[in-house]
Formats: sequence, C-alpha cells, structure tokens
Amino acid sequence: MTDGQADGRPRLTVIGCGYLGATHAACMAELGFEVLGVDVDVERVKSLSAGRLPFFEPGLAELLSAQVESGRLRFTTSYAEAADFGDVHFVCVSTPQRAGDFAADVSRLDAVVTDLAPLLDRPCVVVGKSTVPVGTAERMRQRLRQLAPAGDAVALAWNPEFLREGHAIDDTVAPDRLVLGLAGGDDPTTEQTLRAVYTGPIAAGSPVVVCDLATAELVKVAANAFLATKVSFINAMAELCEAAGADVTRLAEAIGHDERIGRRFLNAGLGFGGGCLPKDIRAFMARAGELGAGDALTFLREVDAINQRRRARVVDLAGELLDRPWPGARIAVLGAAFKPHSDDIRDSPALNVAGRMHLLGAHVTVHDPKAMPNARRTWPTLAYADTIDDACAGAHLVLLATEWPQFRELDPAALATLVDTPALVDARNCLDPTRWRAAGWTYRALGRP
Ligand code: UGA
Repeated sequence: MTDGQADGRPRLTVIGCGYLGATHAACMAELGFEVLGVDVDVERVKSLSAGRLPFFEPGLAELLSAQVESGRLRFTTSYAEAADFGDVHFVCVSTPQRAGDFAADVSRLDAVVTDLAPLLDRPCVVVGKSTVPVGTAERMRQRLRQLAPAGDAVALAWNPEFLREGHAIDDTVAPDRLVLGLAGGDDPTTEQTLRAVYTGPIAAGSPVVVCDLATAELVKVAANAFLATKVSFINAMAELCEAAGADVTRLAEAIGHDERIGRRFLNAGLGFGGGCLPKDIRAFMARAGELGAGDALTFLREVDAINQRRRARVVDLAGELLDRPWPGARIAVLGAAFKPHSDDIRDSPALNVAGRMHLLGAHVTVHDPKAMPNARRTWPTLAYADTIDDACAGAHLVLLATEWPQFRELDPAALATLVDTPALVDARNCLDPTRWRAAGWTYRALGRP
C-alpha cells in the first residue's frame, strides 16, 4: 500500500454513487477516512458535491452535508483523479435485471474496469460491493491485472453489502457481519488493508468472515434468496389461512417464537419488492442455470410466483369489498414506496396494485410520505394527493399498501368521516382489526379471517 492519509490509513474512493455508493462514501468519511466519490452522472456529482442527497434515506442527508463540509468527502466524475487519490477503490455500481431476461446486467461493472484499470499505476485494492453473478469477481480480477500498468500489484477483493434501505447508516457503520472475499495468491496485505478500513466496526463487534471470491459473491445472493423465501413462505401460509379461515399473523407469532425460525421477516402481506430481492433471486436462478445447477434453485421460481400472486390477490380482495363495479370506483392507496422509510419505488408492490386497479377503471389516488415525486414521474396516470385526508376524501375503499408509521397510527373514527364508504384493505397486516371494525369499518387483510 502506498501514500495513504497523514494518519497512515488508506485513502478511499467509492465508484458509483447511487444508493449504496453514496451511503458507503458518507459513512466511511464519518469513520474518519478521506473519501472521493466517483460517478459518471454529472448532475449527481454536482448535487452530492453540494451536500445534497438525490434520494431519501433517514439521517443520510445530514451526514452527507456534514462530511462534505468537513472536507473529508468529495465527489468527481474523473477516473484519473480517483486512480491518483485512492489506495482502496470500492466499486458500488448497480447491476439491474437485464432487459428481456432474468440475468443481471454487469455492463456498468465492466465499464468501471475498462475506465479505471489503465490508470492504476501503483499498488491498490479494488473492492467489489455490487451484487453480482458468481464468477464475476475472478473475471474482473484478471481484466484489471491485464489492463493496469501496476499489473499484479492491483488486488481485487469482494466485500458484499447487506444494508437495508431505511437503515442504511446503521447497517454500514455497524454491520451485522463483514464478508471479505479474497483471491488465493493475492498479496496477503489485502486482508489487513480491509481490516484497517473496518477497524471501527470490527472493534465494536461486527464479526468478520473471510472466504474466497466466489463464496463472497454467493453469500450476498444466498442471503437475499433466503429473505425472499422467508417472506414467500409466510405468504404461502397466508394463502392457506385464507382457505382455512385461520389467522396468519397469529401463526407467524407462534412459529416465530421458535428461535430456529425467528419472528423477523415473517410479516405476511403484499410481499417483497424493491431494487434488490426480486431481481436478485431472478439473477441467481439465471446464473445457476448457466452453471448447470439450475435444479438447485427451481424453488425460487415458486418464491417469485407466490410473491406475484399476493399482488393479484390484493386486487381481488379489494374487488370483493367494493360495493360497486371497478369503473369509476374511487380508491385511496396509502403508500407508494416499496417499504416504509424509503422513497424507492422500484418494483413497488404498492404501485403495482395501484396500477392494476387503475387499469380496471378505478380512479386511484395515491399518497406516500416520501415517494410522491418518484411515483408521479414513473406512474403519471395515477392521481396523487399531498395528504392522507385528501387521498381518502370521498373514497369508496382505502388500501393500505406500505406500512409507514403515519398510516399505522391513523385514527379510524376520524378517517371514517372523510370517506364515502368505510371499507379498508390492510395489505400489510399492520392495523388492529378490532379497533377499525369498532369504528365502523369493513376491514379485510391478507391471510386473516
Ligand atoms: C434487502 C436486504 O434485506 C438487504 O440485506 C440487502 O443488502 C438489500 O436487499 C440489497 O440487496 O441491497 P431492502 O431491499 O432494503 O434490503 O429491503 P428489505 O428490508 O429486505 O425488504 C424487502 C421487501 O420485503 C420489502 O418490499 C418489504 O416490504 C418486504 N417484506 C419484508 C415483507 O413483505 N415482509 C417481511 O416480513 C419483510
């Protein structure tokens, strides 16, 4: 390792300043590192350089502006500047689902190697954090070494990210584990360098798992596949509860007491969405197929199918509850983000069902505490209201689609005076049915009598 900060710690770059990269850059600066964020998007770099966060994440806007002001955190579009500055280069570009199939699109990752590698003329570590098909890291390592003037002095490590939107800062500065994927035959100081970057979290108790590159790549997709499976498992139980007249929320509580099962991630409802779980399980299936191990993951097809069925079922349930035909029915949809404490609407179950009801002819009005600008841009045919009250005024049915605290805390009696018909679908099982029924509402939820 060369150069470094005055205190001997490595200087960091973060390449790709989207959700993951912007969070990582700001948190690493908070941990005391000099950080240079790199992005090809000029507008994004301008905004971040001015300390303005282009998306919503609790606490992150404040952290970003404080770190930019401190001078420890800067942003650039220049790879030359990055190569010159960094001892450790974190690669955080996105790997979305490829248009037309299930596989992950790794073209942004390839572009980083093409642009950065020819500029790497001194020893450094490139650390992949993006979610990738297994095998990508080794391919990237070979290309880096072929293209970099520093050759074998460029090490590649894989350090997958497990942060959850809405908890991104905590998950970055105090991760529940650190996975360090290292290539056999690389400079043994690579592990020490990574441990130096994460000294704070390690001292605070974050366990470290050291493994090879392929295992590190797989850990990430395996974790997301497990989480998706857990959600779809409880949603499959919800389907059974609906058929049998049982209550999935009590069932989840009861099985969750078994420590081997655990209660977390057993909230039945509208299912999973977002920029990660849906595309990651599909990319995982696609990669397993390429490796000739497709059979091992056929169950994920069912996980995906159960998840999609919940969206259709919510629309059916709303149709059963409506006291009139769909065309012209006024529906209030509470929630647009794929989950609370986020303005992310990628593959949002809430907007998916709002869109379906709109296509059935309903007049759908959406309200979300944070995701309205994104929703308006992406789903311009829906109507939007700036307040819960405006969204619900005169509604024939209210659908709770994202469990924001503001919606959980709604007063059923007060809301009943605003709507045309007090009919409610609680698609996230987050309200107390007894309380809502006592206030005169017809209450229906997924997996509950
Ligand atoms: C997920 C993983 O939880 C992170 O560990 C991972 O780092 C991240 O993907 C990623 O790959 O970058 P995230 O997409 O932020 O994080 O959201 P989750 O909290 O996992 O929720 C995913 C979806 O599952 C949401 O739509 C949520 O509403 C749904 N969900 C979650 C349920 O329907 N039921 C539950 O019990 C839990």
